[in-house]
Amino acid sequence: MANTLGIVKPDGVRRKLVGNIMGRIENVGLILRGLKVVRLEKEEARKFYAVHEGKPFFNSLIEFMTSGPIVVMVIGGHDSIERWRDLMGATDPAKARYNTIRREFGTSVEKNVVHGSDSPVTARAEVAFFFKDDEILPKE
Ligand code: RTP
Ligand code: MG
Repeated sequence: MANTLGIVKPDGVRRKLVGNIMGRIENVGLILRGLKVVRLEKEEARKFYAVHEGKPFFNSLIEFMTSGPIVVMVIGGHDSIERWRDLMGATDPAKARYNTIRREFGTSVEKNVVHGSDSPVTARAEVAFFFKDDEILPKE
């Protein structure tokens, strides 16, 4: 029942998709255990996406992720990491399955609306990046 980190990226917030996305999470029985609106500084975004430093899309990704407020979510429930990534769809919206968030709303491989942790180790680190323990709804 590990938690994972979800983000509604600046494009999703600008386009008023936050409610739709949170509804999808709750509709499949995943649990919103933490929630906040954040505006990342460049340095914070570089730290969060450090794994992509040096890649051709890195600078553009940092510009994008700091272009407006984001909504960060702690998502819990059984198999939360995989199930949240299933709801998101593939990185490139054009390749994502139908009925996924990225397929329906993504406009490019960069502006793909949502983020999700990709393993238990990154989930733990990414949740701690944004949330103190007492900001997260405890498991029952
Ligand atoms: P995320 O980390 O945001 O959940 O997405 P992901 O695992 O599906 O994709 P990842 O490879 O980790 O890439 C992180 C984010 O960088 C942007 N990106 N742009 N222009 C490009 O070729 C490119 N490739 C990746 C996307 O915003 C992607 O979600
Ligand atoms: Mg990733």
